[in-house]
Amino acid sequence: MNAASNSTMARSQAPIPTIQTVRRAPINPNHWYAVALSTELKDRPLGVTLWHEAIVLYRDQSGQVHALEDRCPHRQVRLSHGQVQANRLECTYHGWQFDSTGACVDVPYLSEQQRLPNCRLKTYPVCEQQGFIWIFPGSQPETEQIRLLEIPEWDHLNYIASVTPIDVQAHFSFLIENLMDMYHGRLHDDLQAWANPVLQEIEASDAHIDAHYAAESYYKIDKIWSVSQLFMPALRQLRPTHLDVSYLYPHWRSVLGEDFKIYCLFCPVSETQTRAYLLHFTSLNAFHRLHKLPVWFRRFVRDSLFNSAKGLLAGLVEQDVLMMEDEQRAFAAAPQRKGPEFNPVIGQVQRLIADQSSS
Ligand code: FES
Ligand SMILES: [Fe+2]
Repeated sequence: MNAASNSTMARSQAPIPTIQTVRRAPINPNHWYAVALSTELKDRPLGVTLWHEAIVLYRDQSGQVHALEDRCPHRQVRLSHGQVQANRLECTYHGWQFDSTGACVDVPYLSEQQRLPNCRLKTYPVCEQQGFIWIFPGSQPETEQIRLLEIPEWDHLNYIASVTPIDVQAHFSFLIENLMDMYHGRLHDDLQAWANPVLQEIEASDAHIDAHYAAESYYKIDKIWSVSQLFMPALRQLRPTHLDVSYLYPHWRSVLGEDFKIYCLFCPVSETQTRAYLLHFTSLNAFHRLHKLPVWFRRFVRDSLFNSAKGLLAGLVEQDVLMMEDEQRAFAAAPQRKGPEFNPVIGQVQRLIADQSSS
């Protein structure tokens, strides 16, 4: 028996936390969270919220991203209303300027007798990789040990990416349960995402859950024209495939057959609000002739098809958001109510959320 199975057994005997614990669970701050797409941050500051913390992102002259508390210490207004001046962030109200360490380095109307205020804004470890800006809100010594979720498809020439944001007025537990419970294909029938899932196996540890389903997919990307299945339902037909979903706390990854990889990157905002990014990758691995063509041409093909599945993703998200916001409303109205649950993956997800929130 391998370590994963051992760990699964031990975890499956642990009690499932109460539903109130799960639905109000805070995030474990000692992870990297995706707070914005790289393309969202241009030459103006950008305000984001990660689990109740208002954070301002800005780029310095070299393009490097910095993350500070989004609060001017003078009158407590948001610095994200301001502007970037060289390598400094300037508050739009009285023009105080801050450097990337959070120190106030200029007050434009300071007299010769006055000294700069001795205030320092909180800073956050931040990095820009794989198309996203990531923040580590936890204790800094752990930054080195905890790695970003790897998304190797992002820069790979053989994958066409599509991205859509998710903004849902619901706790993040509703979103991850939605993503891990593949029995909700009924909701997406008209968008033909997948069909007839049967849960085969669950593996779990204190950091992840893998759920393996047998299922059927409407898509098979094996000829160059078959990419058009993404937009033309008439070209689709059901074929058996495997559907593997993983909760890699705090994010999610899915593999549908040989052709699709999907990620959901989480940025929980509060107990009743979640932002996330859904990334969909269509594989071009089956097209061996394409791989022999010049890199510039392959890049052109990949970049031209960027976001080709965005409409489909947005449609799926809209349907899911309706359900999750209903669930959140129902929880607010009757927090003690818990329905019967037939998918054992859900209990595992709830345990992991509770464990992580208290670790
Ligand atoms: S409120 Fe920011 S400079 Fe006055
Ligand atoms: Fe869904």
